[in-house]
Amino acid sequence: MATMDPLMILVVDDEPLVLRSLTCFFKAEGHDAHGASTLAEAVEVIESVDLDLVLADVNLPDGTSFKLLDKIKGHSPAPELVLMTGYGTIDDAVQAIKSGAADYVTKPLVDGELRMVVEKARRRRELRTESAALRPVAGEESDFGAVVANDPAMKQVLETTQTVADTHSTVLLTGESGTGKTLLARALHCNSSRCNGPFVEVACGALDDSLLESELFGHEAGAFTGAYQTRRGKFEEAHGGTIFLDEIATASPAMQVGLLRVIDDGCIERVGGTDTIRVDVRIVLATNRDLAREVEAGRFREDLYYRINVLPIRLPALRERPNDIPALARHFVRTFARQATSSVQDIAPEAMEVLTAYHWPGNVRELEHIIERGVLLAEGDRIEMSNLPEEIVEEAGNARTATVVPLKKAMEEPERRVILRALDRVGGNRDQAAELLGISRSTLFNKLRRLNINKAEARG
Ligand SMILES: Nc1ncnc2c1ncn2[C@@H]1O[C@H](COP(=O)(O)OP(=O)(O)OP(=O)(O)O)[C@@H](O)[C@H]1O
Ligand SMILES: [Mg+2]
Repeated sequence: MATMDPLMILVVDDEPLVLRSLTCFFKAEGHDAHGASTLAEAVEVIESVDLDLVLADVNLPDGTSFKLLDKIKGHSPAPELVLMTGYGTIDDAVQAIKSGAADYVTKPLVDGELRMVVEKARRRRELRTESAALRPVAGEESDFGAVVANDPAMKQVLETTQTVADTHSTVLLTGESGTGKTLLARALHCNSSRCNGPFVEVACGALDDSLLESELFGHEAGAFTGAYQTRRGKFEEAHGGTIFLDEIATASPAMQVGLLRVIDDGCIERVGGTDTIRVDVRIVLATNRDLAREVEAGRFREDLYYRINVLPIRLPALRERPNDIPALARHFVRTFARQATSSVQDIAPEAMEVLTAYHWPGNVRELEHIIERGVLLAEGDRIEMSNLPEEIVEEAGNARTATVVPLKKAMEEPERRVILRALDRVGGNRDQAAELLGISRSTLFNKLRRLNINKAEARG
């Protein structure tokens, strides 16, 4: 892939070999690449060089690279942070996205994937500079057409969402990470009459308590140390549109009170201010935690819970809607093949079987990444089984043997229990036990032998 402008890239990894090969790769592609093997070294580079992209391993000798986010945010324009995780460490990956990293990739990385990281970072930067924060969301992602739903469970979700889209109702989207809550929140907005207004997204989990309040409600000059100027909050920014409060379970007690108020009377107060400001905002919230349990544990206000739980929409985990897997996989093949101008068009049947058998702890996001990688690795016009990560293929293999071969074995234990209970009931008399079980005496004898039930056991 031809590079347009060279980018300034920082690679952070404590494995000397990985570090060297990544920096060499980027240099060979015509970029400027720096390397760092610790957090401290990385911070030094971030502070002295204008970077476009930081590609960092999550675990470094002096801490995790989530810490780099704060350093990066201080820069304008801020470089993109893409985190590298080991395969299967989906928690790290999820936390990476939650904490505000632009993306994550799983090691080992292949050349095509590295190019894709660069191109995506470049595209995101371009988008960010083009779009002011208040620009309404537009484009491919924005309507229900972009939400793949083939499984009845997901079709039902989509139907509900469509019905409530153009209302003022507060909607609470729940579901595991990567199930499509953010995608659906955008779709809700774009299918409402507010679609020309702003869609403002707030990652509640990415900010600390004090910041979150001022982020949402704004602050007056002098409200706290460092508040030099009066600032409008996200609610004011979202006036006439939709505010999407992601990870609502992490809202501080003070923020919860503020939210109660906006939901009740549509009014907010800036931190440190006394004026009441009226806003016209539709609220969509999301969480991957069980809010009812958070209420029970005393971490979430019960009154707020009832106010926001008016229209709960639960996104099923991907493993609960297996019929979506092939449809989503093909959708992602088309998307990534187009992006990477690749000739891949489909997925081999065995590979598809593997994808359908896997339990997808990272849900649709994980599937998306696997297909992205598959498209890059594929040599022909299909993704083959060999283009999928070993762990996934292995698990599918285990699942197949677990359900087919040991089925007979799996039935032995209940069978054994039933027979022993019958024998126990009739004091070990085999004729009576056979009658009770509705089988012949000889069948019972065969079963006793096959199940290794000895005389002592049979007498109970
Ligand atoms: N039904 C779907 N059709 C097409 N793409 C989907 C679908 N569901 C999810 N995706 C894609 O999968 C990725 C993860 O979805 P999304 O970010 O909406 O998940 P989420 O539930 O908000 O996750 P988190 O809890 O981590 O924020 C996104 O790239 C999204 O576009
Ligand atoms: Mg989300």
